[in-house]
Amino acid sequence: MKAVVYQGPFQVAVQEVPEPTIQHPADVIVKITTSCICGSDLHMYEGRTAAEPGIIFGHENMGVVVETGSAVSRLKVGDRVVMPFNIGCGHCQNCESGYTAFCTEVNPGFAGGAYGYVAMGPYPGGQAQYLRVPWADFNALSLPPGREHESDFALLADIFPTGWHGVSLSGFQPGESLVVFGGGPVGLMAAYSAVLRGASEVYVVDRVPERLEKARQIGTIPINFDQADAVDQILDQRHGAYVDRAVDAVGYQATQAGREVPNTVLVSMVRVVRATGGLGVPGLYVPSDPGGVDPLAREGYLSFPVGKFFEKGLKMGTGQCNVKQYNRYLRDLIIAGRATPSFVVSHEISLEDAPLAYEKFDKRIEGYTKVLIHPND
Ligand SMILES: NC(=O)c1ccc[n+]([C@@H]2O[C@H](COP(=O)([O-])OP(=O)(O)OC[C@H]3O[C@@H](n4cnc5c(N)ncnc54)[C@H](O)[C@@H]3O)[C@@H](O)[C@H]2O)c1
Ligand SMILES: [Zn+2]
Ligand SMILES: [Zn+2]
Repeated sequence: MKAVVYQGPFQVAVQEVPEPTIQHPADVIVKITTSCICGSDLHMYEGRTAAEPGIIFGHENMGVVVETGSAVSRLKVGDRVVMPFNIGCGHCQNCESGYTAFCTEVNPGFAGGAYGYVAMGPYPGGQAQYLRVPWADFNALSLPPGREHESDFALLADIFPTGWHGVSLSGFQPGESLVVFGGGPVGLMAAYSAVLRGASEVYVVDRVPERLEKARQIGTIPINFDQADAVDQILDQRHGAYVDRAVDAVGYQATQAGREVPNTVLVSMVRVVRATGGLGVPGLYVPSDPGGVDPLAREGYLSFPVGKFFEKGLKMGTGQCNVKQYNRYLRDLIIAGRATPSFVVSHEISLEDAPLAYEKFDKRIEGYTKVLIHPND
């Protein structure tokens, strides 16, 4: 079969690789209809992780079951499914408590696992024609048959739940105001979730015009941080009033004035949120960063205004999204016509076009915001 394979920094190629097979009775094989490119893939693509050449990318996967292991009882051949990007076993302490992003069974000595991601276990990704899904009865979310809502449902694998999770991590309550740093796919999904959840006012901070325009289209207030300091702009618009909550949908590759400043969003969030408010951090920070801007950043340490954080009595939630906590009811919002997250999708492509899409998405040019690959079309 064909798959998108990492070759080294700024290089992916479509290659012929062996088709996955059932390795455990609880596995299924899914023929992929859609697999998305994610901002998280770019950390590997840019050589900012320990990813070795040969990884098949793709953690945002959906498709149709074509083969089931002998212990699979719920899923049947022909079922249409979308998989959370995190793989859970379903029976460890964290999975039982709903923290499926921190499953202790999927990887030895490390909590959490995912498809097609460095250090997240021996699970090839789905930017390929077929995917092996472990503990499939637990992990796969069933979808109505057909191709309806394909691009909405595909976003249930990661970014719609992750945006929703970012808002939850901030402690958000209906009626509150919120600022989302980062207008990429995750940030736009966080902003959209806050709108769906009854926010009074939502700001989206970015510098990419197409992303700020999408933010405006969903009824949120775009803030261009290239024009002036984002916190100053927001506080000016609010006549000095702080916001209730902030979400970091940028992570450790944040920029300021054209250069990378890994702690800039964390610092801004502490400045802009009211005393006793909350910070949600779905944006990725890493325990070690080979390409870090200074020796401390390379060790995964960043400076943080802990004094102000304490003085304001702020709370902060972090971590990978436990997709299974959210994807069932977000699926039902889509089916009911109350959520259409696919507004964020900018390009739908074949597998052959993936290398070019990586290049353009990485540069955040030509409107590349969210790319959906259809490997079998
Ligand atoms: N927690 C999770 O489970 C989870 C899941 C998916 C993605 N992520 C992470 O979320 C982050 C965002 O993902 P994405 O796909 O939207 O990525 P993306 O790279 O497309 O978007 C990031 C955006 O941040 C903007 N940005 C850079 N510096 C900024 C600053 N100082 N202020 C405001 N905006 C700034 C960029 O212009 C870009 O548009 C990444 O770190 C990704 O790894 C986490
Ligand atoms: Zn993702
Ligand atoms: Zn588990």
